[in-house]
Amino acid sequence: MMKKEISQYAFHYLLMEPQGGRIPPEFSVSTADRVFHFHSRIPGYQPTALVRLKRLARLWGVGEILVKDESTRFNLKAFKVLGGIYAVARQLYQQLGLNADHIDFSYLQSDEARRQIGDITLTTATDGNHGRGIAWAAEQLKQRAVIFMPKGSVQSRIENIRSHGAVVNVTDLNYDDTVRLARRTAQQNGWHVFQDTAWEGYNEIPLWIMQGYMTLGTEAVNQMALAGIRPTHVFIQAGVGSLPGALIGYFINKFQDNPPLFIIMEPNNAACFLASAAAGEGRPHAVTGSLQTIMAGLSCGEPNPIAWDVVRDFSTGYVSCDDFVAANGIRILANPLEGDDRIEAGESGAVGIGLLELLTNRPEFRELKQKLQLGPDSNLLFFNTEGATDPENYRKIVWYGKYSF
Ligand SMILES: Cc1ncc(COP(=O)(O)O)c(C=O)c1O
Repeated sequence: MMKKEISQYAFHYLLMEPQGGRIPPEFSVSTADRVFHFHSRIPGYQPTALVRLKRLARLWGVGEILVKDESTRFNLKAFKVLGGIYAVARQLYQQLGLNADHIDFSYLQSDEARRQIGDITLTTATDGNHGRGIAWAAEQLKQRAVIFMPKGSVQSRIENIRSHGAVVNVTDLNYDDTVRLARRTAQQNGWHVFQDTAWEGYNEIPLWIMQGYMTLGTEAVNQMALAGIRPTHVFIQAGVGSLPGALIGYFINKFQDNPPLFIIMEPNNAACFLASAAAGEGRPHAVTGSLQTIMAGLSCGEPNPIAWDVVRDFSTGYVSCDDFVAANGIRILANPLEGDDRIEAGESGAVGIGLLELLTNRPEFRELKQKLQLGPDSNLLFFNTEGATDPENYRKIVWYGKYSF
């Protein structure tokens, strides 16, 4: 059998000159400040670390490698709760007729608010992290949550959601069909849907969820400012794209005069943003099928249309990666160079570092590295969006070298 060249399957990419567009007012700096204020007053709030991998940056010949480490967010191992909790709070404030400019989560936890809200059920579809965030929000508010998960969901992720008292239904459908099932079931039962993607007639809650994610950007910008660093490249992984949509929206508002380059990363089997960009029609395209990948959080075939509009206008690169790229990223972050901090990264969190390793060390990718203008003057920002949310697979990857090239 002929050996396949790494360049044939490690990743696929498309580079574009960002066409620019309307600076999205939904992701303005003042909105981000309000959202940050809301999060910072939730009991247990701590900003997550921005880890500066100085030794790795020197070894790989770039200015800075910065990793915003979401593995410690609210002890939930992923950033996703930032969106879910903000959307739940916004909706309850709306229901109670209160001013959304001053949302106070602790008020929603009070007996008085609880009496006015009554008993409600929060629901969503999830591959793990978003559902855990919604389940946690319901738990904090002493409300019920019913969470739908696609076939093949990992037991530890199911148990993590149940640990917050939620009911979990694992379906025999893929992610996108599970979203539709959650939506139908909620309609039949009068439940509140907090889905992290939009569809026709359902935009407000997904937008709030995206706005909740802006706190990652706010914290990172504050942390970079303290270190005197300005990002030149921002690498963001996409599932339905709400995360990149929110972060690009925020960074474009923040750095209007000199925005960084944005690079979108997806699994090879669920690369709906790459497919949408490649189609070149300006509208989003879905990819279908099993969407099988170890990057469960990125295993989504249908772009969030709100996110797509922002990503399309401002991104330079779309890269889809094989699972081994993510696994390499996990191993690299788990085994830092002396002097650098160790980072516990899950499958969906580590793909950016795995990609940078290939760009740095493989001669066949040198041209792409040059086109992306990666060099000693570049300050690269990555988001480790989750910790080891599947600990068994994490050990297989780190200890036994599973998913190697
Ligand atoms: C760990 C992790 N990273 C990244 C993402 C991607 O976020 P989005 O689906 O908003 O693009 C997800 C989504 O669930 C996730 O769980």
